[in-house]
Amino acid sequence: MTFRNDLPCSDHPRSNFLRNDPPHTDPPHNDRLHNYLLLTPGPLTTSRTVKEAMLFDSCTWDDDYNLGVVEQIRQQLISLATSAAGYTSVLLQGSGSYAVEAVLGSVIGQQNISRQNKVLIVSNGAYGARMVEMAGLMGIAHHVYDCGEIARPEVAAIETILNADSTITHIAMVHCETTTGMLNPIREVGELARQFGKTYIVDAMSSFGGIPLDVAELGIDFLISSANKCIQGVPGFAFVIARTDKLAACEGRSRSLSLDLYAQWRCMEDHHGKWRFTSPTHTVLAFAQALKELSAEGGVVARHQRYHNNQRQLVAGMRELGFRTLLDDALHSPIITAFYSPTDPQYRFKDFYTRLKAQGFVIYPGKVSQSDCFRIGNIGEVYEDDIVALLAAINDAIYWQDHIEKFAPNKEPQ
Ligand SMILES: Cc1ncc(COP(=O)(O)O)c(C=O)c1O
Repeated sequence: MTFRNDLPCSDHPRSNFLRNDPPHTDPPHNDRLHNYLLLTPGPLTTSRTVKEAMLFDSCTWDDDYNLGVVEQIRQQLISLATSAAGYTSVLLQGSGSYAVEAVLGSVIGQQNISRQNKVLIVSNGAYGARMVEMAGLMGIAHHVYDCGEIARPEVAAIETILNADSTITHIAMVHCETTTGMLNPIREVGELARQFGKTYIVDAMSSFGGIPLDVAELGIDFLISSANKCIQGVPGFAFVIARTDKLAACEGRSRSLSLDLYAQWRCMEDHHGKWRFTSPTHTVLAFAQALKELSAEGGVVARHQRYHNNQRQLVAGMRELGFRTLLDDALHSPIITAFYSPTDPQYRFKDFYTRLKAQGFVIYPGKVSQSDCFRIGNIGEVYEDDIVALLAAINDAIYWQDHIEKFAPNKEPQ
């Protein structure tokens, strides 16, 4: 078996990737210390320097941390999101879903006060569906436009809904629906939000930092993402970039104490970056380092290009190996790709996964309810050489073709 930390790495673009873990001989944990490349939607493979940034203990009352790190991050996030004035940012403990729930629960008013608020949720996958579930649990009035998991939401259909229901006050949608890897039409829906005067919420969890966008240009009022996606930090907190005036109007609306986005923002604003409750200090330091590395790579445009190249290279290689993508090329994001599972009766995802992991690569199960798929992500410290190595590993892991002739790379599938 070849593990990734057995590979020579001196001149590799990921040469700072943690491959020299101290030897660990305790058998049950041994495998976990072997580095594998995470080809997943996050947490993802991070650089050695991002991991090393966590080797410091910060005090949450200290200016070095609050002013020196948290406030810097807040400013940098705003700059990544737009050059326009009038935007602010809030960091929030927890995974991405916590921030989505915080936005829905803090921004959309209660049903029983003067003007009833109602959100139109555009859904075409698990993360749109999760917003619907959250709205239901919090008693938020909502209208769902569900176009199915493998269709792109139709802008005309959204316009028809907005024309028919004037009580809708907010629109919420996912940018990259990580379920399938589909990129949703946030620009066109943003134009509708502007035209109809609706507050626009975008879950850009898996795209922010990896796909260029400008919240002001797109008319986004609240954008949500998290530390362990395209910025390439580690898990532990999420963040929201918001129109300052819209967030400032949210006082007292939250249905939750811990997930009160306004209160969290107020605390950070009034106390120079102080978090209301225990701050994930190590994760925050890692994120600050990840932001530096994003800038060193050439910013979001350069990172997007790398992800895009990875995705193209992956899809071309997988097709040579006989796999089919779930989506047409025109619908794909550069973030993650869903492939149909082989139909051979001997195929089991778990066995395929285990064979790839033994070669140092971790892929992801499918999440589409209607089709049997698996997914491969491109985000994180993943480069061209990694995709070449992954494709070779996949070729070796196609155990279900042992009884028939394997596809030879560069030859047309039969
Ligand atoms: C688009 C999108 N929204 C929400 C989430 C939920 O984030 P988390 O799993 O960090 O709670 C994810 C996770 O991958 C996502 O891709």
